[in-house]
Amino acid sequence: METPQKKILIVDDDVDIRTILKDRLEILGYRVVTAENGQEALQLVILEEPDLMFLDLQMPELDGMEVLKRLKDHSDLMVIIITAFGTIEKAVEAMKRGAFDFIAKPFSPDHLSVVIKKALVCQALKRQNNYLQGEVNAPYLEIMGESAPLKKVIETAQRVAVTSSTVLLLGESGTGKEIFARSIHRWSPRSKKSFVVVNCVALRDELLESELFGHEKGAFTGAHQKKRGKLEIADGGTILLDEIGDFKPELQVKLLRVLQEREFERVGGTKPIQVDIRIIAATNQDLHQAVREGRFREDLFFRLNVVPISIPPLRERKEDVPLLTDFFIRKACHNVKKPLMGISQGAINHLMGYHWPGNVRELANLMERAVVLAKGKDILPEDLPLQPITVLKEESSLEKPYHDAVRTYQREVILHALERTGGNQAKAAEMLRLQRTYLARLIKKLEVR
Ligand SMILES: Nc1ncnc2c1ncn2[C@@H]1O[C@H](COP(=O)(O)OP(=O)(O)OP(=O)(O)O)[C@@H](O)[C@H]1O
Ligand SMILES: [Mg+2]
Repeated sequence: METPQKKILIVDDDVDIRTILKDRLEILGYRVVTAENGQEALQLVILEEPDLMFLDLQMPELDGMEVLKRLKDHSDLMVIIITAFGTIEKAVEAMKRGAFDFIAKPFSPDHLSVVIKKALVCQALKRQNNYLQGEVNAPYLEIMGESAPLKKVIETAQRVAVTSSTVLLLGESGTGKEIFARSIHRWSPRSKKSFVVVNCVALRDELLESELFGHEKGAFTGAHQKKRGKLEIADGGTILLDEIGDFKPELQVKLLRVLQEREFERVGGTKPIQVDIRIIAATNQDLHQAVREGRFREDLFFRLNVVPISIPPLRERKEDVPLLTDFFIRKACHNVKKPLMGISQGAINHLMGYHWPGNVRELANLMERAVVLAKGKDILPEDLPLQPITVLKEESSLEKPYHDAVRTYQREVILHALERTGGNQAKAAEMLRLQRTYLARLIKKLEVR
């Protein structure tokens, strides 16, 4: 049986590298597409759906590391880092972020072919395992918590789940909007059909449009084939429109039509497509304010706000902390294949006294880190670095000249916010109450990361 030709995406700002690599890969029998920057790479990942990607780390603007971060959704795309001699450390960091392997320039053709074969074998296994993995992780999809405020929210969610009503999930970053959306789908009569997530921030406008509505062949440069959008893929099931507050005005109009008539056209198409979908929207923004400021259409807001569900921040339901802690320790031990660990009462007290700006996500990350790093068989207070900003207390930074110390402090604060939000700049900006563009400038200026 003939196997379909695998497709490889090469991302490098250096045209020579692109050309050499493309030639070699084509000789080896692969289909090749190329991108000269990070932005274009992300676009091609969606449009071309490559199996494998060669990614250069050093590129102007959106560099390789950032591309990797934004690829979270495409977990079975195998990424191989292209590194120059002497930058192996960076490549190793990239592998921690999910890259599969790296090759150093100049490439030897034999090595190239071995690396690709290894990646493709691993990908096949990954795809095969996906189903099983889903089964294994199913218990971890449970919403944990027994506080009165959370129970009330769960009850509302269960009541609305059996209907097809539109749901608007509100809550700070990391409170559990996505896990609630998934649960509503699982509790609904649509559970056998797809649950699809569209993240409005991760994609540029035109891509978001194509991602949602699909496109016809030739609708725009790069649209080589017809593609179904996520609205079509979700037919019969549920779609989560994540970060709805960031939808651009033109898309808001199109979305309004979907909400009113369950109908839309593909980009570049004329034929109306009808779908039967439950819509869940989520945001951590204040949509009332967005409406007042003219950033969000009022009619769309009313259509979305049919059943609003607000998930309370963790600091308002600290009773949930012990249960969640226990749950995340189990999950982390299972994931890193460590025997089950305990946690000392002192450590629990420590957690209860904290204000959890990053909510449940922060607790989950903290436990994962503690499970990996703790030396004993119980997690102790010293395994929980909850006092985030300690640089100024350190002798070394007190001895620094004023401006240096301030700079160090600024970097630390930003790094921390990025860590808590999984590297999402928009969310980090919100947490720090900064304009997103200002934060981006600071990151650049202070050379954060
Ligand atoms: N009650 C809960 N029980 C178990 N896990 C939870 C709970 N709430 C949140 N989580 C976990 O915490 C993490 C963050 O939750 P989720 O992604 O749903 O938050 P979110 O509100 O969508 O955040 P954001 O606004 O940043 O997208 C996920 O790993 C999720 O599974
Ligand atoms: Mg979310």
